[in-house]
Amino acid sequence: LTSRATSPAVNSPTIGVFDSGFGGLTVLSSLIERLPQARFAFLGDTARLPYGSKSRRTIARYAAESAQFLVREQGAEFLVIACNTASALALDAIQAAVSVPVLGVIEPGAAAARAASRTGDVLVIATDATVQSHAYTAACRALGLRALEKACPLLVPLVEEGWTDTSLRTGAVTAEVIRVYLAELTAEAAAQGLNPDVLLLGCTHYPLLRPLLETAVPAGVRVIDSAQAAAEATAQRIHQYLGEQPNATTAIPSAAAANIRCFATDSVEKFERLGSRFLGQPVGHVQLVDLGG
Ligand code: DGL
Repeated sequence: LTSRATSPAVNSPTIGVFDSGFGGLTVLSSLIERLPQARFAFLGDTARLPYGSKSRRTIARYAAESAQFLVREQGAEFLVIACNTASALALDAIQAAVSVPVLGVIEPGAAAARAASRTGDVLVIATDATVQSHAYTAACRALGLRALEKACPLLVPLVEEGWTDTSLRTGAVTAEVIRVYLAELTAEAAAQGLNPDVLLLGCTHYPLLRPLLETAVPAGVRVIDSAQAAAEATAQRIHQYLGEQPNATTAIPSAAAANIRCFATDSVEKFERLGSRFLGQPVGHVQLVDLGG
């Protein structure tokens, strides 16, 4: 990439952020903190969610169509694939479908796990499709880590329902589900002779469960979030592209200053209502997009 810092337009690059739904707003939230001067176009393919239970072929087709919308119709100069499932199974297909740089969440997540782990053994929780792809295991292995992955398919619907508040009975149900999943995962880790000290959250929705997960992990296990890691990696890449120092623009923007356009392929009302929980601020007006079947 060449530096284009002299062009005024490039000082506010448009960054396309894609997810299968609105869970990817956790990544957008982290990106806004790090790139307050950027413009963001976020697409949630809510009509076709969940991706986590679908095949590679279907995920690749949906994700490529979504990426093309962000690049061709919204002028995105970078694409961040916030969806772990699409990053794990379709990053190559997405990159082949558009001509701008495409960044996923798997490698930054694995890099954050490596930075946090002393034992070199890492637990990963994610959707079924992500786990079956073993993308996290491969990315961790490339960094010298041993990873053990577990699909936690009940967690996305629980977060979508808002059952995340520990002070409510609904939150207690989610806490119990987490307890069962983590007990199975840690038992399997012990059976394999692993000594994990990191739990990597390999799904857009899991950052909302962080308080519940942090109380449920065994002592000495740190919870690491691929959303934050991906936002950090993206911010560095974009600063390089702009020829800027990363520290030059790290001021936290006010909610009003962030320039965000949100698009969804279904139920914009639900997106507007629930999306603020993921973004940490109101998502504003969400526009409906038809990407076909
Ligand atoms: N966005 C997906 C992920 O991060 C979770 C939701 C889905 O299954 O589509 O894997």
